[in-house]
Amino acid sequence: MYNMNSAKKIIRTWIAGVRFYIAISIALITLEVLWLSETLYGGGSLATIRLEESYGWLSIGFLSVALLIGPTLTVFKRLPGRRQLFEARRLIGIGAAWFALLHSLITYIAQFKSVNPLDLPLTYQRAFLVGLFALIILLALAATSFNRAFRAMGIWWFRLHRLVYVAAALVVVHVALIGVHAKTAPVLAAFGSVGLLIIGGHLYRNQSRKLAKPIQKEVL
Ligand code: HEM
Repeated sequence: MYNMNSAKKIIRTWIAGVRFYIAISIALITLEVLWLSETLYGGGSLATIRLEESYGWLSIGFLSVALLIGPTLTVFKRLPGRRQLFEARRLIGIGAAWFALLHSLITYIAQFKSVNPLDLPLTYQRAFLVGLFALIILLALAATSFNRAFRAMGIWWFRLHRLVYVAAALVVVHVALIGVHAKTAPVLAAFGSVGLLIIGGHLYRNQSRKLAKPIQKEVL
């Protein structure tokens, strides 16, 4: 009875919260990309390549949005829907890990037929290793992005979640090493602009936190 009530409560909280809609969107995007690649490229190896590429870019997109939410909340103090944006961040991060996992599995199993990585050219070996580290970090962050993990881990939660910057840097190296589209001018421009926005936003946020601390002490 107790379990039934608490399960109902959890479901009600999810439905009321923005995270429920983001979870539904992630599931729909996953299916839509699968359907589009099959329909546009008619199965076969090109469909597989477009599928893994799309999931790779979706992962980067979700990661970028998750990284931009913190600075946005710092800069726009009166932004409507601040609470929803804050709540959404965790699930957007989980979305980034989900699409990275799909990208990696499809690439390795369907495109590379589970090849021994040591048989690949050196650039691919390096790119796979860097991608694997990024994937492990993203999965670890997703697995610990729940209230229970947050409470249980204490300071280690913040330490672990700071690794998101390492993951982002590893993804940039991975894409620079073997990304095909990443080397085209429009993608480089978009990638560079979003990267600068994220770095600038986080530097600004850290600076305003440092400035806010002494002021708080004076007020207290
Ligand atoms: C074990 C982990 C990984 C493996 C084996 C892997 C494999 C690959 C391969 C073979 C490519 C080149 C394919 C192509 O251009 O069609 C590629 C490109 C790419 N990867 Fe990964 N990857 C891994 C992890 C990741 C992660 C964690 C992310 C994102 C968070 C990511 C995002 C991308 C993107 C955006 C591209 C560029 C696709 C393009 O140029 O259109 N990869 N990856």
